[in-house]
Amino acid sequence: MKIFLDTANLESIKKFNDMGLLDGITTNPSLMSKEGGDPKSAMKEITKIIKGDVSLEVVSTDFSGMIEEGKRLREFGSNVVVKVPMTPDGLKACKSLSSEGIPVNVTLVFSSNQALLAAKSGAKYVSPFIGRLDDIGQDGMNLIREIKEIFSNYDFGTQILVASVRHPMHVVDAAKIGADVVTLPPGVLDKMLGHPLTTIGLDNFLNDWEKLKSSNPDSKI
Ligand code: E4P
Repeated sequence: MKIFLDTANLESIKKFNDMGLLDGITTNPSLMSKEGGDPKSAMKEITKIIKGDVSLEVVSTDFSGMIEEGKRLREFGSNVVVKVPMTPDGLKACKSLSSEGIPVNVTLVFSSNQALLAAKSGAKYVSPFIGRLDDIGQDGMNLIREIKEIFSNYDFGTQILVASVRHPMHVVDAAKIGADVVTLPPGVLDKMLGHPLTTIGLDNFLNDWEKLKSSNPDSKI
């Protein structure tokens, strides 16, 4: 399963990329707005830091606007994936950009039928938002299960990108289902790294080593 970071925060992107954990990045207008500054230069910078796919979202809602923006975004880097909303114009733009070899991520997907239509429109990624479904009392992970089952019947080549991830158990469940990608807020990735027993265990190892060292002051490893 690929891990993308769901942020436009350059510091977090550099931190996790330096650890070798990132296969890509997803952004959206809200994430860009949260960081402030010039979105265009931030987008360009992200495409340079990250080797894998970087999803940059259009803000036009009509077909021709999405095509124009999508093409401009794609000029920022050969790893740019154009993110379009799951609307009739979005699907039309997906079909058109994909047929020109520009990869597309269809976002704001909340049903299996929407995922099916996005796949049929040539999307490279389909982004079901599981956390926002959980928020309204629907089972987000069940949507991932259903899309996985549907996609396994056909040969769309569209990858399931699990979005709106809220906690580490979402990641475990997505991996058990066999989702292609999860996109994680930095806080979730941080939580996945740590375990109290790892911290306690390492402290104990180092304390014991110090005791051994005090009786063998000249020995080094
Ligand atoms: C995905 O591409 C979206 O940017 C993101 O996962 C949305 O998550 P949210 O529901 O936490 O805003």
